[in-house]
Parts: sequence; structure tokens; C-alpha cells
Amino acid sequence: MEQQVLSCMETRRSVRCYEEKQIPNKKRDLILKAAVYAPSGSNHQSWLFTAIQNRSLLERLNEQVRIGFGFLEVAEHDYPAKIRAKSNAQKADYNFFYHAPTLIVASNVPDYANAMADCAAALENMLLAAHALGLGACWINQLTWLNQMPNVRDFLEEYCRIPKERVICGACAVGYCKGAYPKPAPRKENTIEIIP
Ligand SMILES: Cc1cc2nc3c(=O)[nH]c(=O)nc-3n(C[C@H](O)[C@H](O)[C@H](O)COP(=O)(O)O)c2cc1C
Repeated sequence: MEQQVLSCMETRRSVRCYEEKQIPNKKRDLILKAAVYAPSGSNHQSWLFTAIQNRSLLERLNEQVRIGFGFLEVAEHDYPAKIRAKSNAQKADYNFFYHAPTLIVASNVPDYANAMADCAAALENMLLAAHALGLGACWINQLTWLNQMPNVRDFLEEYCRIPKERVICGACAVGYCKGAYPKPAPRKENTIEIIP
């Protein structure tokens, strides 16, 4: 068990190419269970995990994200991935969740200092659970960047039951990995310090 958990952490990778087939409900529910068993500040558990599995709804959400990025102002010195995300959104084949059959959105209550940290812990649990269950998954940040974009929030409220006041902390795409499972990037040096 100990070895399995450690090996799962070491071998998990971000998957960005998915088969069309949907994941079984049993696996979806185990992934969501892993999310709600994550630690949270003072055991707050104020998160909400919304698993969106309707393909046409996901495609419509993708269109709203594309429109949202068109309006989003991103400064030249902003986070490079955010700059890339805005320009990628204008491409004809853009799909922010890589056509995964399931997208799980993690949101939290407003004005809660640990909102992001709690959801991040839950997202990592979901990525690991997906990997342990033989699925691929990837952290998806676009909805976080568009947290305040009116068209995206209208859509999420109306069609995905995510109230507008909630903060979108992140999301994860889940599905069967298509093609070879990705290899890890080399680990950077000098990121660990031991004080004996
Ligand atoms: C906070 C955070 C945001 C991320 N956002 C995205 C994203 O929007 N799209 C994406 O493809 N990957 C995203 N990733 C995945 C990272 O790119 C990935 O974890 C990193 O390149 C290392 O690769 P690995 O997950 O395969 O180890 C995100 C990861 C984190 C932790």
C-alpha cells in the first residue's frame, strides 16, 4: 500500500489527449470521493465539485471560454501560461479541456482565505485517484482565470449549477489516455533542503 501510493505520485502525469469514451460512473464517484477526503483548513469542507459529463454542454462551455478569453485583459508581463491561454483560445481547434469526456470544476465560498489551498489539495487527490484507476487527468486553469468573466459565470450558473458567488479554484479533465502515457519532465536541482 505504502509503495503503491508513492509509486502513484511518482508516475502520475498530465494527460492532454483523451479517448472519446466516457469514464465509468464507479470510477467518477471514486475520484469525487478522493476529492472530498482531502484536507481542508479547520476542516472547512466548503468546496463544491461539479462533474460535467455532457459532451454538448462541455463544447458550449468551451465556446464561452473562447469568448471570455477574447475579453480578458492579460498584461505583457503576466504569467506566461495565461498569455498563451489567451492566444490559444483564438485557434480554430481550441479546446481548453483537451476534449476529455469529464471535467470536474472545484469551486469554493468567497472571502475564505484557504479556498484555493483546500481545492488544490482536493484536485491533487483527484489527479492521483484518476491515475490509480487507470485513467488520465490534467489540471485545467482556464476557468480560474475567467472566474470573473460574466459570460462564463452566467453559463456555469445556468447550466452547471455553480452559483456566481463561488470562487472557481480549478478544474480537472478526466478520461482514458489516448496514445502513450506522457513521460515526466526532469526534476529541477536544488529544490530540497534537509536541516539535520
Ligand atoms: C496550478 C496548476 C495549473 C495548471 N494549469 C494547467 C492548464 O490550464 N492546462 C494544462 O494543460 N495543464 C495545467 N497544469 C498542469 C501542469 O502543466 C503540469 O502539472 C506540469 O507541466 C508538470 O507535468 P506533470 O503534471 O505531467 O508532472 C497545471 C498545473 C497546476 C499545478
